[in-house]
Amino acid sequence: MRVMGIESSCDETAVALLEENPSGAARLLCSVISTQIPLHRQYGGVIPELASRNHSGRLPQLIREALRQADCAIEQIDVFAATGGPGLVAALLVGHTAAKALALATKKPFVSVNHLEGHLLSPFLQREESRAASGAPAPEPHLGLIVSGGHSLLVHVHGLGQYELLGRSRDDAAGEAYDKVAKMLDLPYPGGPEIDKLAELGDAERFKLPRPMMHEHNFNFSFSGLKTAVLYLLPKLTPTGNPHELKKQTLCDLCAGVRAAINDVLVFKSSRALEHTKASKLAVSGGVSCNSALRQALADMCAKRGVELILPPNELTTDNAAMIAYAGLLHARVRDYSELTTPVDPNPLLAGHATRGHTP
Ligand code: KG4
Ligand code: ZN
Repeated sequence: MRVMGIESSCDETAVALLEENPSGAARLLCSVISTQIPLHRQYGGVIPELASRNHSGRLPQLIREALRQADCAIEQIDVFAATGGPGLVAALLVGHTAAKALALATKKPFVSVNHLEGHLLSPFLQREESRAASGAPAPEPHLGLIVSGGHSLLVHVHGLGQYELLGRSRDDAAGEAYDKVAKMLDLPYPGGPEIDKLAELGDAERFKLPRPMMHEHNFNFSFSGLKTAVLYLLPKLTPTGNPHELKKQTLCDLCAGVRAAINDVLVFKSSRALEHTKASKLAVSGGVSCNSALRQALADMCAKRGVELILPPNELTTDNAAMIAYAGLLHARVRDYSELTTPVDPNPLLAGHATRGHTP
């Protein structure tokens, strides 16, 4: 079985091809991504109208390029999968409608994939060979931490589509907090990688920033207070509050403080959720999981707990179509196809997840 995945939910246009080999393992044939970051950077964030126009211009070339790289004809694709949400409606429509049109023209099935499910399952793509050899189910039961631009979620995964939501961001997600603080400091969009880089040169102890909801007895997150704390701190550090007047070392210390505050909360809540679920594996996904210090802190916490940490490589953590093709393939394996009438949904629930937060 060969699956084409298409991703166009935000500012990345991406196409990937996956093949299930005779042993039952999924193998990535190619993954092509065209980023719009330079386009949106000049506005300090994503402009939805520009994003959808750009997706529509780039997607046909990317589909051709993916087929060329995999040496594959469109007739050899068995399933077409595309992100159906969450995301920007007009951006989602481009990839979703393209996949439907290809499915219609080739008379093959279509799978509408939840973008968050794509992130959630992405760490397991790299383990398909060993999973298939051991006969384990896909996905393996685990605790998932999704830290993308718009979402911070802790999910207890019992099986495909069996997602128990333990906690989520009540206001800003971790990625959003990085991007908003970066905007205040007039750092380029997206802010996470910029703050991460500067934090490497800073002293995380200099500014004590809040760790919201850390000691509340639930698995939820809140990062909007962090943004406010930086907003009030700035005028105390420069007379005008202009971030360009900050000394380089002060800027680095501030970034290190922000990164440490976000990471402390993510690691603490993940640790508590591991305790609660008794899960033996923690899989982390989404753009914020590129964060070097977060990777290290999670590795240390998991080593102490005797829990296996599964992290996708960086190219699979930020938005990509390999994760959409993989989720599409897992659904196609159990013939869980979508109707061609399925609409995009800018704000869907993660399939099967409970809507109320848990208390340990
Ligand atoms: O998963 P993703 O590519 O897109 C969404 O689905 O939202 O995540 C993008 C987010 C942005 O907020 C970006 O600032 C953040 O991931 N990010 C990082 C790093 N690289 C990307 N945050 C912290 N440290 C990084 N190294
Ligand atoms: Zn994403």
